[in-house]
Amino acid sequence: MVGSVALAGLALRAGLALRRARLSRGPRAAGARRRHLRLAKPAVVAVLVGFAGGPLSMFFLRDQAPFTTLHALLGTLAAALFVAAAMLGHRIEEGASRATAAHGMLGVAAFLAAAGAAIAGFVLLP
Ligand code: HEM
Ligand code: HEM
Repeated sequence: MVGSVALAGLALRAGLALRRARLSRGPRAAGARRRHLRLAKPAVVAVLVGFAGGPLSMFFLRDQAPFTTLHALLGTLAAALFVAAAMLGHRIEEGASRATAAHGMLGVAAFLAAAGAAIAGFVLLP
């Protein structure tokens, strides 16, 4: 999970670089877009795999009821925001939407929620 949050951070950084390139209408926008997509897609997959693994581990390995912790609450919020950002991002990629600002905001919110979950996850560590 540390790795997937770090990867999401790199995707966010690439997204912000893309935003700068887009706003200044610079020539680097295409490369920045490719870099953002290359990082963001595996980051979303890694976060969602971790999101599935947490409660499974809680239930099968620890014999505890899943989704009872603050970490689970923040993690669920983060996962939902990542899914929303990815769905909107995919529509932007296909040219079906131009809501880049909304996508960026969802991405930032998703990353912040994941960072909160990471902090709230320390108490769960064995
Ligand atoms: C780097 C940060 C993180 C750390 C150190 C961490 C650590 C943990 C640990 C130790 C558990 C308990 C699992 C067990 O061993 O039984 C857990 C559960 C869980 N994690 Fe994380 N996690 C992190 C990030 C995330 C993120 C970003 C998400 C969501 C996208 C997430 C979602 C969950 C969920 C849903 C559970 C189940 C908790 C429950 O059922 O109460 N985690 N995590
Ligand atoms: C599968 C997932 C994703 C896809 C397909 C995707 C796609 C895109 C696309 C196509 C743009 C370009 C807009 C343009 O050309 O100007 C963009 C911008 C951006 N993305 Fe993503 N993205 C994804 C996930 C994420 C995630 C996880 C984050 C944050 C952690 C993020 C943060 C941003 C930001 C900050 C921008 C700049 C928005 C702006 O220009 O105002 N994206 N994304």
